[in-house]
Amino acid sequence: MNLPGLLGGLALAALPALAADVDVLTRAEDTMRRSFPAATEEEWRTRLAQDEVQALCSAHHNTPPPDIAARIVAQSREGIRYPDDGKLLGNWKEGEKLASIGTGGHIGKIQPDRPGTRRGGNCYACHTMATKEVAAGNLGPSLTGYGKRLGNTPESARFVYDKIWNAQAFAPCSHMPRFGTNGWLTPEEIAHTVAFLLDPESPVNR
Ligand code: HEC
Repeated sequence: MNLPGLLGGLALAALPALAADVDVLTRAEDTMRRSFPAATEEEWRTRLAQDEVQALCSAHHNTPPPDIAARIVAQSREGIRYPDDGKLLGNWKEGEKLASIGTGGHIGKIQPDRPGTRRGGNCYACHTMATKEVAAGNLGPSLTGYGKRLGNTPESARFVYDKIWNAQAFAPCSHMPRFGTNGWLTPEEIAHTVAFLLDPESPVNR
């Protein structure tokens, strides 16, 4: 077969798969829209519509080829901001609270947001941390004893800070929310959470 013929054949072969993908994505978005009838257009734009990185992950079923993966990592590293005082290790007691808080930012009718509700990281939904908290999920790896494993050094604090700011700066298409990039936690709050994971006094390490 000549080259144009081969390319034509490939394009034709790829078409049904592509059409199926587009159909699935359209139906998924439609289901999301119907699930959040109370969402305003602003909430749709900032919370529910996929940004470029999410769209790339969806298009590649969360396993992007190396060039796209590198692009996601590079883009996710952009715009990392640190607390004004430069301290990446905050107060572990504040971090402990933030790791448990699962309220804040709700969209919907069943449990709408209460004014003034504090947003937290809801880290326990996916991670085991301090062992006294028994209601911990396992979508993410256990972080019990994390500081002992990683060491309480400036380098590890920087890594954990950046990881919480945007998990995809290390693991493209990670299921972990991008707390800093999406403005969910402030730089100071991220530093508190870093302390909760690394401080030798924190129950995560005792
Ligand atoms: C929706 C689930 C989810 C939530 C919520 C979540 N994570 Fe994660 N996290 C993951 C997954 C999945 C991984 C493994 C993939 C990766 O490295 O990104 C991970 C990885 C990590 C790692 C790297 C662990 C290692 O192997 O070195 C750290 C640190 C971490 N999470 C901290 C946190 C903190 C702190 C919070 C709360 C502020 C949090 N996570 C909230 C899912 C979650």
